[in-house]
Amino acid sequence: MHALHWKTMVLVVALALLQPMLFIKVESFPALSDKITVLPGQPHVSFQQYSGYVTIDVKKKRSLFYYFVEAEMDPASKPLVLWLNGGPGCSSLGVGAFSENGPFRPSGKVLVRNEHSWNKEANMLYLETPVGVGFSFSNQTSFETVDDKITGMSHHFEQLLIDTRDNLLFLLHWFDKFPQYKQKELFITGESYAGHYIPQLAELMIQFNKKKMLFNLKGIALGNPVLEFETDFNSRAEYFWSHGLISDATYKFFTSACNYSRYVSEYYRESVSPICSMVMSQVGKETSRFVDKYDVTLDVCTSSVFSQSKIISPQQVTQSVDVCIEDETVNYLNRKDVQKALHARLVGVNKWTVCSSILDYDVLNVEIPTINVVGSIVKAGIPVLVYSGDQDSVIPLTGSRKLVHGLAEELGLNTTAAYRVWFEGKQVGGWTQVYGNILSFATIRGASHEAPFSQPERSLVLFKSFLQGTPLPEVF
Ligand SMILES: *[C@@H]1O[C@H](CO)[C@@H](O)[C@H](O)[C@H]1NC(C)=O
Ligand SMILES: *[C@@H]1O[C@H](CO)[C@@H](O)[C@H](O)[C@H]1NC(C)=O
Ligand SMILES: *[C@@H]1O[C@H](CO)[C@@H](O)[C@H](O)[C@H]1NC(C)=O
Repeated sequence: MHALHWKTMVLVVALALLQPMLFIKVESFPALSDKITVLPGQPHVSFQQYSGYVTIDVKKKRSLFYYFVEAEMDPASKPLVLWLNGGPGCSSLGVGAFSENGPFRPSGKVLVRNEHSWNKEANMLYLETPVGVGFSFSNQTSFETVDDKITGMSHHFEQLLIDTRDNLLFLLHWFDKFPQYKQKELFITGESYAGHYIPQLAELMIQFNKKKMLFNLKGIALGNPVLEFETDFNSRAEYFWSHGLISDATYKFFTSACNYSRYVSEYYRESVSPICSMVMSQVGKETSRFVDKYDVTLDVCTSSVFSQSKIISPQQVTQSVDVCIEDETVNYLNRKDVQKALHARLVGVNKWTVCSSILDYDVLNVEIPTINVVGSIVKAGIPVLVYSGDQDSVIPLTGSRKLVHGLAEELGLNTTAAYRVWFEGKQVGGWTQVYGNILSFATIRGASHEAPFSQPERSLVLFKSFLQGTPLPEVF
């Protein structure tokens, strides 16, 4: 395939570009100035929080915003976990930290504790990426500079490379601020379109480590990730049908006349065919805009916060249904006192938004598979977990399960833990299967696209077992 050939080239160029940057002494502020005294409305806690900017561009025009929460107990003994949300263009601060697995959730004027925060198990680093998302900014209007050197390449790959390079540079420079975390076990986690960001970032780290051990990467976890366009997107029809969201006749229509991957592909080329238009209008009519596609059992209000996929669910954007009048996170993060406490600035935008509207991202990137990149990470000996909130129709569990199984076969990894239930408390938390003791799949029962939001207890059990490399509870 062309993809492989290009990918190799991208890596070669990336390595060439990054080498000189590693030796540039970037001005590093002591982490102390990033320390958060207290967030407005925050209950008393014993752990430390930091937030601020890491400048990633040589010309110092691009800065990424992070929010870092140390582990609740004994941070020195706990790993470092980077969390990335998807979109592309959605905020890891607003979605990940303040709605999913961070220590607090905004509620009116105050913050309430999340009793199942992932900082019970790890030091959590939330990154708003790429530049243009949330509080991350570029003083320039377009994405060029260093990238001029690689314009000979396909535009798609150029974009992939920029994001990956920026994320990697971010971490390197973040370690300048927090050197005590440099040698710690590092895990990368995230969801949705981060199924593109994370494998690429991990692969780049592995390449770097061959020259010099810079990243103590111990594993990656991908929640409801986009890994392969056709498989992921075309699982939707069956999911809708089996959950009663569309009729038998429409299911047939949606799988024979025009499938979802074809529709998305046409949509992003601005050439939706009459047949696809007809199919999608029928599907839309039956599924109704009052069902949250990210959790078919959840009431619709959350969709305004969680529209994490301009790319993977384009019709959601055109509908622009906002049933929620109040959006706690948007209100909270737009307060001046909150921005001050976070050391955040608004540059080039006048409002913090959940998902960026200024991001000039090549939407066709979604068609590039990353499942093969996941394969190369496994081959390098890094454990991978793919997990699925099983109520999500946007990236349904069936597609992810099939992709993981297919990858295991391709890599010659036998099943080391047969498909079985796992427990949280006295209830089934989901199902799991492990291949070659290194590649795992798990569902989270009753969870949405944003699993830690809707199933915090179960998600925390899964997260803990992932970090510790121990089997999910087999009994209760
Ligand atoms: C970018 O813009 C911000 C806000 O105006 C400013 O504080 C910062 O110094 C600028 N950075 C550079 C490198 O120009
Ligand atoms: C989806 O449609 C495309 C274009 O018609 C076709 O090539 C592909 O095989 C279909 N995939 C599935 C899973 O039906
Ligand atoms: C996987 O199972 C097959 C069939 O039992 C066996 O031949 C093969 O050696 C196994 N591979 C590994 C890596 O254990």
